[in-house]
Amino acid sequence: MKTTAFLFVFLLGLSFAQGFDFFYFVLQWPGSYCDSQHSCCYPLSGKPASDFGIHGLWPNNNDGSFPSNCDPNSPFDSSQISDLTNSLNANWPSLSCPSSNSESFWTHEWQKHGTCAESVFDEHGYFSAALDLKAKADVLQMLSSSGIEPNNNSYDLRSIKGAIQAGIGHEPGIECNKDRSGNSQLYQVYLCVDSSGSSFVSCPVLPSVSCSSQVVLPSF
Ligand SMILES: *[C@@H]1O[C@H](CO)[C@@H](O)[C@H](O)[C@H]1NC(C)=O
Repeated sequence: MKTTAFLFVFLLGLSFAQGFDFFYFVLQWPGSYCDSQHSCCYPLSGKPASDFGIHGLWPNNNDGSFPSNCDPNSPFDSSQISDLTNSLNANWPSLSCPSSNSESFWTHEWQKHGTCAESVFDEHGYFSAALDLKAKADVLQMLSSSGIEPNNNSYDLRSIKGAIQAGIGHEPGIECNKDRSGNSQLYQVYLCVDSSGSSFVSCPVLPSVSCSSQVVLPSF
């Protein structure tokens, strides 16, 4: 009985120390970022590849809430990830205007989300975990295997989900935005990752649906 009580308090302590239950690994389709009212600017490293880019790795709770901006004393320090810069430019490009070297994007993601996972990762660990997850989740290839290509055609939302589920083993969350004509288009894919940031898991909670049943996948 004493042991059980100890274990309970110990585990409770661990979960408080950690402060979140799982991660959303969020990928964005550059064609849909650019093909919208706000438009886009290519980063100084050049036009990104025609591939999903990383948006972020976000600590989240099972009840849908999430911590943010957890440690103002841990500012983004580019010197800690200088060995990752080439890979980050290729996989985590900023498309916001004006054109930049993407560091403001990485800074935002570290400050808002990364500092809430400091029980698991330091800054270098956080960015390399996201790059490792990206290498494991070739969403464009999963879609292509089901005949879904970025060619401005519309596809059944269920087919898109099914193709990604077949590749990852778990149902993804899909977020859409609107193109300039108001069509629903595939904007972001949410994959859930265990609280150690290493394996894909079933999503405890999916982001709310924002897509029509038919979704455009614009070319990029
Ligand atoms: C998709 O639409 C855009 C904008 O209308 C156009 O520039 C592009 O060539 C189209 N891509 C394909 C593959 O048809």
